[in-house]
Amino acid sequence: MDHFQLKNGELYAEDVPLARIAEAVGTPVYVYSTATLQRHARVFKAAVAQAGRTHVAFAIKANPNLGVLRVLANEGFGADVVSGGELKRALAAGMAAKDIVFSGVGKTRAELAMGLDEGIGQFNLELEEEGVVLAQLAAARGVTAQATLRVNPNVDAGTHDKISTGKAENKFGLPIDEAVEIFDRLAPLEGLNLRGVALHIGSQLQSLDPLEAAFTRIGKLVEQLRGRGHAITHVDLGGGLGVPYRAEDNPPSPDEFGAMVARVTKGWDVELMFEPGRVIAANAGVLLTEILWVKPGVIQPWVIVDAAMNDLARVAMYDAWHDFAAVRPSGETMTANVAGPVCESSDVFAKARVIDVVKSGDLAVLRSAGAYGATMASTYNSRALVPEVLVSGDRFEVVAGRIAAETIMAAEGVPEWLKQ
Ligand code: LLP
Repeated sequence: MDHFQLKNGELYAEDVPLARIAEAVGTPVYVYSTATLQRHARVFKAAVAQAGRTHVAFAIKANPNLGVLRVLANEGFGADVVSGGELKRALAAGMAAKDIVFSGVGKTRAELAMGLDEGIGQFNLELEEEGVVLAQLAAARGVTAQATLRVNPNVDAGTHDKISTGKAENKFGLPIDEAVEIFDRLAPLEGLNLRGVALHIGSQLQSLDPLEAAFTRIGKLVEQLRGRGHAITHVDLGGGLGVPYRAEDNPPSPDEFGAMVARVTKGWDVELMFEPGRVIAANAGVLLTEILWVKPGVIQPWVIVDAAMNDLARVAMYDAWHDFAAVRPSGETMTANVAGPVCESSDVFAKARVIDVVKSGDLAVLRSAGAYGATMASTYNSRALVPEVLVSGDRFEVVAGRIAAETIMAAEGVPEWLKQ
């Protein structure tokens, strides 16, 4: 459930008409609903609490906006970060260092050092050498790094190939068969408290089965590690829960996920950690856009909107579906294509779709754009960087300004030798 609903025939974000935001801020613009974020955060926390002691870290990559992060910090969420930049954001948003987990297959030495200096809660190690370096950096500082080994359980998540991470062919995690040996070698190192294991098998999962298979493998690994005398106190189960992008989608609910986790992890006696991203943020945001033209097409008309693939890359990158809806629907529909202005054939949001009838100057939204939306935006075609607005009740505020093409151009220069 989200808070983007029609009231008197007009689409609102909570108690704010989207048309008012378009007028004040311009389009395209991302609009997030605080009440939806809060609701998703509470539902997720309550769902996993069925499994006992838990720690929930929002996967910041899904939506790193400081306003959004502050909402989640207020809900008691920590953060899952994958770069120094995300680490700084988590801290700036008010998340406690001890609640931050550092994931990522390519952490630099400087990023590892930053994590130690900030005193973050956990590092999820991707390879043995990273553990050795982290231990050295920690020992040199006279501190102990809390860490887990991220393993690759070789499970097919059954999702889009480009967002699968838990198969042997993927770059993420270390082979589960080698985990025990690597654990044996890293655990004694000074500066390191290797306290558990982590995994994340993919995103937008439509079934609990692959998750259950992966968690079961992890449970066996925990047993093996304990059998060798290792104290396992933490298991990080990652993120990945899918969301409905269209009416007929029926992903498992957080509650079903929590019940499965409780069943599979029964008796593990660890703190379970989670890194949800999409399930918290996706349906808490829309991309608000204006229709520029309705261009007659050879097969169907082309609705050309002012948002484009540089603002929302998911359709071009993963063939994703985002519902398209008029802000003031007339009740009539038409079959059309929806596309942005960028000069790429992949800059198409919808093909041959039955949509609300719209005309030039109307407003519309691409729904479910709160996760992996603005954060993946670029300035391709020298377009401005898309702004973001946070709504709460009848209030709204710009939480990321539009960055104009001129501002980006100002960071560029012509070399001296070409100026003569
Ligand atoms: N933890 C780790 C280690 C991850 O790599 C990810 C996502 C998450 C947690 C959060 O997963 P979620 O709960 O959001 O599924 N840009 C793509 C999604 C990439 C996901 C990358 N990793 C998209 O727009 O679909």
